[in-house]
Amino acid sequence: MLSELLLTEIARLNQPARLPLHRQLYEALRRAILDGKIAAGERLPSSRDLTQDLQLSRNTVVAAINQLTVEGYLVSHIGSGTFVSDNVPRLAAQRQRGTPERHATLSARGLRLSSSFCASDLEIQPFTAGIADFSAFPVTLWQRLQNKHWRMTYPDMLDYSSSGGYAPLRRAVADYLRIFRSVPLDIEQVIITSGTQESLALCAQLLASHADTVWLEDPAYWGAVKAFIATGLTLHSVPVDDQGIAPQASDDAAPPRLIYVTPSHQYPTGAVMSLPRRHQILSLARQHQAWILEDDYDSEFRFSGPPISSLAGLDTDQRVIYLGSFSKVLYPGLKLGYMVVPKGLAAAFKRAHYDLNRPGQMPVQAALAEFIDMGHFASALRRARQSYAQRRASLLAALQPCLGPQAQITGAEQGLHLCLRLPDTLDDRALAQHIGKLGLTVRPLSAYCLQQTRLRGLIIGYGYAPLDEIERFGPLLARTIANALSRSSTST
Ligand SMILES: Cc1ncc(COP(=O)(O)O)c(C=O)c1O
Repeated sequence: MLSELLLTEIARLNQPARLPLHRQLYEALRRAILDGKIAAGERLPSSRDLTQDLQLSRNTVVAAINQLTVEGYLVSHIGSGTFVSDNVPRLAAQRQRGTPERHATLSARGLRLSSSFCASDLEIQPFTAGIADFSAFPVTLWQRLQNKHWRMTYPDMLDYSSSGGYAPLRRAVADYLRIFRSVPLDIEQVIITSGTQESLALCAQLLASHADTVWLEDPAYWGAVKAFIATGLTLHSVPVDDQGIAPQASDDAAPPRLIYVTPSHQYPTGAVMSLPRRHQILSLARQHQAWILEDDYDSEFRFSGPPISSLAGLDTDQRVIYLGSFSKVLYPGLKLGYMVVPKGLAAAFKRAHYDLNRPGQMPVQAALAEFIDMGHFASALRRARQSYAQRRASLLAALQPCLGPQAQITGAEQGLHLCLRLPDTLDDRALAQHIGKLGLTVRPLSAYCLQQTRLRGLIIGYGYAPLDEIERFGPLLARTIANALSRSSTST
């Protein structure tokens, strides 16, 4: 019986008595799942039954189950219960299959990090979300700039960088953010990183302690989820509505140390955070003495509606860490991003960044600084905006025939993808798989959900595919979706 197993696990784990009960139960359940003692797909008893059997409070049981759901060990289906996820790697099964010992020696955290979260196979095909058209990158010019900086490289340019990055690049980033994102800052606050993942990890490592709570959007950006799991934070998911993350009074029961948001274009629903919601998040951060991590990815591409100031631009309390990346405007393999930290944190962040990462790549940073100073970044951005606006219009037109009360588009005012919301009775994973067999890649919205169980839809990118491919394959995509919708409405 499960409750006996759990009581034995709790005793066997011999957790320090100081650990809260929900944490002990969480650990016992997690171990039992990883060891294969509870099978994939197995239904858990209701929280009420577990409460009775384990003689624990309902809150304790619910907190443990919620945490395991957020982390992907459990999935809950409204009306039918909570089940052990099919996606958890199992130690016991691996041992039985004779998996080499080194797999079994991954830490519990290693297992969580190496299990797939988003089930995306990162294919580059028409409609893949999150991919820009980096074929437009001016390779010859870039080579010329790189060669120039390699030729005149001074020895210190080949060393690690302890100053937060190459000064002219930090200045170029500061100028850009002041003008285009209304972020008031000086160059000392800018730190060049190897992209958003590194920035997130640094924030989690420096601003939170082990097991502190991070609020994150549900559905969420899988990269952020992994960064927070890696740093041992407790994930608290907050549902997203059409104005972005939507905290309720009940969320205050899990006070955050960090609040991670994508306000310009919520990833993946595409919701643009409204101004009142931005003020609400800033005031919640003040109330909880929390830090806001503003991931402003996709902010460069706004197609309709008035511009909205970044959270960092509205912040009067020095609570926002602003994160940006060159992955979308230039190319992802460049591996360069930046963060803007409040003045009081800048020196500590630079020291820790140096010790943890030994940052370098100064000649590449120098080439990029010159690329920006010479106006090439601005013109690449202008060209990209025009081109993506056409692709977006073409995709919207192609999808028209399948739209209606059952299928609505959200998040198309900004960014490089849109979200097509579908009825909660439709299996979006099966539909995405079916579309994949046609050579097109879309992602199921439900794959990004942490605790939400009813969200269904498709995330459709228009950044990667050239216009003629969108025109050619858009109608096929729309027909396939329309067929799935009519099959689903006749079967319900
Ligand atoms: C939500 C979000 N933030 C940030 C990034 C950029 O991340 P990086 O700078 O690590 O390439 C992406 C890339 O897809 C993203 O989807």
